[in-house]
Amino acid sequence: MDRKIVETAVKKAVEIRNNAYAPYSKFKVGAVVITGSGELFAGVNIENSSFGATVCAERIALFSAVTQGKHDIEAVVIASELKGKAVFPCGMCRQVLADFNPEMRVILVNAVTQKIEKEALLSEIFPDHFTF
Ligand code: THU
Repeated sequence: MDRKIVETAVKKAVEIRNNAYAPYSKFKVGAVVITGSGELFAGVNIENSSFGATVCAERIALFSAVTQGKHDIEAVVIASELKGKAVFPCGMCRQVLADFNPEMRVILVNAVTQKIEKEALLSEIFPDHFTF
C-alpha cells in the first residue's frame, strides 16, 4: 500500500475525530478504512443517551465503505488519545472488521501528536475470529 495513502488517511482520521459525538464519555475517536483501490471512508464514534446504542468509529467507517459497495478493506486507521496513548479497537469492532479482511492492517494514531504510535495485523490482535 502506498505510504502517501496512509499519510492521507492518518490526517483524515485526526481531522474527522473532531466530529465525534461523544457527550457522555468525552472520548472522541476518528477512523478511516482504506480499500484495495486506495479509497478512504471515514467514521466517528456516535454515542447515545441509551448508551447501548452507541456505535464505535471503526464500525461507522467500515459501514460507510460497505454502503458504497466496497468490501476490499486493506487497513483501518484509528485516531484517539487516552492517558497519552492511542487505543486498540474494541472486541466487537475487531470481529466486524475481521469478516471483511482478517489480515488488514490496524494503524493506531495518537490524535494529540498526530503520529502513528502502533501497528499490527488484525489477525495478530484478534486471532481465530468467528466465521461461518
Ligand atoms: N470507541 C470507539 O469509537 N472505538 C473504540 O475502539 C473504542 C471505543 C468509542 C465508543 C464510545 O463512544 C467511547 O469510545 C467510549 O467507549
